[in-house]
Amino acid sequence: MKRFISFEGIDGSGKSTVSKLVYKKLKSDGYDVIYTFEPTNSEIGVQVQKYIKEGADPFVISFTFIADRILHGKQIKKWLEKEKIVICDRYAESTYSYQGAQLKDIIKRPMSWLQDISENKIPIPDRTFLFIIDPEISVSRIKNRDYLIPFEKVSFLKKVQKNYLDLSVDKRFLKIDATKKIEEITKICYDDIMS
Ligand code: TYD
Repeated sequence: MKRFISFEGIDGSGKSTVSKLVYKKLKSDGYDVIYTFEPTNSEIGVQVQKYIKEGADPFVISFTFIADRILHGKQIKKWLEKEKIVICDRYAESTYSYQGAQLKDIIKRPMSWLQDISENKIPIPDRTFLFIIDPEISVSRIKNRDYLIPFEKVSFLKKVQKNYLDLSVDKRFLKIDATKKIEEITKICYDDIMS
């Protein structure tokens, strides 16, 4: 059974819905499980949400996401030491993929740089579910939200998804076809956590 599980994918891919359903099923089956997410609701997490909306400098956004994660990672480590299952909606690969896309034409090899500065500072998930969807479809799913942040554009999300796919060569990732039915995806994730 897997203990630390992260859910990744572009905006509108459905990972938040599925991660919550997987959490509820684990809980109702009697497991000691925590649901958590990034950006967190700590002071730093709230700050980074403001930075995104304002369209702040991508380096400031990158460092703030990483700072939020280093603190979050310490909490996750404590939960894991208490033998809890931790379900995390967005984690390190969000920074590598989103800020990697933001920094693409600003520095050389931004994803490697973001990975290097995070190395050994955060716990690594046992499994990362990567929700794959055509950005045109994902944006059409979220277009009725009251407020769209600057990242929620097809052209940007295409770059983000390409970065996710480049990262997913690692065997920790399980790619999910996010156009499947929610119940079906939830079962795939649940069964995989159990195995
Ligand atoms: P999220 O809270 O998942 O948004 P929503 O629930 O509205 O889908 O994340 C907010 C945005 O922050 C989302 O567009 C992805 C982005 N993000 C990054 O750019 N880098 C990161 O490291 C993280 C965790 C999120």
